[in-house]
Amino acid sequence: MKQDMIVILDLGSTENTVLAREIREMGVYSEIYPHDITIGELKDLPNVKGIIIYGGPNHVVDGLRIDVNADIYEAGFPVMAISHEPAKCRESYESWEEAAEGLRTFVFDTCQAQANWNMKNFVADQIELIKRQVGDRKVLLALSGGVDSSVVAALLIKAIGKQLVCVHVNHGLMRKGESEDVIKVFGSQMEANLVYVDATDRFLSKLDGVADPEQKRKIIGAEFIRIFEEEARKLEGIDFLAQGTIYPDIVESGTKTAKVVKSHHNVGGLPEDMKFELVEPIRQLFKDEVRQCGRELGLPDEMVFRQPFPGPGLGVRCLGAITKDRLEAVRESDAILREEFALAGLDRKVWQYFTVVPDFKAVGVRNNARSMDYMVIIRAVNTIDAMTASVEQVEWPVLLKITDRILKEVGNVNRVCYDLSPKPVATIEFE
Ligand code: XMP
Repeated sequence: MKQDMIVILDLGSTENTVLAREIREMGVYSEIYPHDITIGELKDLPNVKGIIIYGGPNHVVDGLRIDVNADIYEAGFPVMAISHEPAKCRESYESWEEAAEGLRTFVFDTCQAQANWNMKNFVADQIELIKRQVGDRKVLLALSGGVDSSVVAALLIKAIGKQLVCVHVNHGLMRKGESEDVIKVFGSQMEANLVYVDATDRFLSKLDGVADPEQKRKIIGAEFIRIFEEEARKLEGIDFLAQGTIYPDIVESGTKTAKVVKSHHNVGGLPEDMKFELVEPIRQLFKDEVRQCGRELGLPDEMVFRQPFPGPGLGVRCLGAITKDRLEAVRESDAILREEFALAGLDRKVWQYFTVVPDFKAVGVRNNARSMDYMVIIRAVNTIDAMTASVEQVEWPVLLKITDRILKEVGNVNRVCYDLSPKPVATIEFE
């Protein structure tokens, strides 16, 4: 393995990820592990140079006192303990610069870590790890065409070539034109081993009448896995399922010390009887790092800088129980938004932009008569790592043009709203 690592032990501090990023920005790889990791597990990790216990010793979570295993201190690694409160942990320093300097001193002088974390080394390490895990067996990949699955596909193609089978499932919740693009780019241009499955009817009938967002995610996730199992059976001899799980998915699905924010289908919704072993080569990367990785792998910019799209797709943007007319309204309004953002030069500037349609109607007037129709809400946000986000201040004329087009071109809609809420307190998606 090519990169040194600083291990952060998680005692429930919400700043763990900030700290991991700070260390990675210094050029040193850092990963977060649960507070109760054993000395054996710790020693099995590759190239550990030092440990940071973040959250403070004897930290209390939900009335329970938690601490690391006492023998961690005797493992032979340098240890730095930081109190869980940011104000306190910085209090012995005059400024943030000095605090950062304290961290640098620990990482480089005390731990003697090398600044050798970069995408070239990450890719080389992952290729080695994939080869070691997979051997000469076959891997099935859900290729949605988003950044994450595309980067995973590129990594796996480099590592194991034709042992990778990409399956694109059209769950009927894709954006307009999206499945067609996947077939064009991966099937024709990249000559990947690609299987296309149109499962629209299956998904929509399973989701019929289901309003709870977590339930919707679970149904979509479970149906996905079932379809992959069916494809695997047809293909024969597939042992692994590759997934584009990234770091925020893992954190937000709940660690031992953090409550579940929302379950992401690719972490939380797998059925118990799943027969695949998982390959998750980008599970430790933040979103911006995934893009860097894609560039390192030579993927085209359009693919690397494409906005993220959730696994459950338009299913979590057609709020509540999905109906065909509202799903169509989401898809058509989203297509208009994307077209107009591209025309205004916002497509490469804004991190994620989409529309949602709530499951209630608002009053309007059509042909001089009172009418009840749906509303479209536009969301456009910027973020580095999807953990926090701020709203894009879209020019008024652009919003008015989009509104005008949606009201004219999308059926059953009589209102368009723009969401001004940052994350937190809101999340990026509505469900
Ligand atoms: P939230 O709504 O949690 O979204 O602020 C953060 C990022 O995650 C995406 N997202 C999902 N991605 N499965 C996914 O693969 C999901 O269930 C899911 N829910 C949210 C969201 O689009 C945003 O980029």
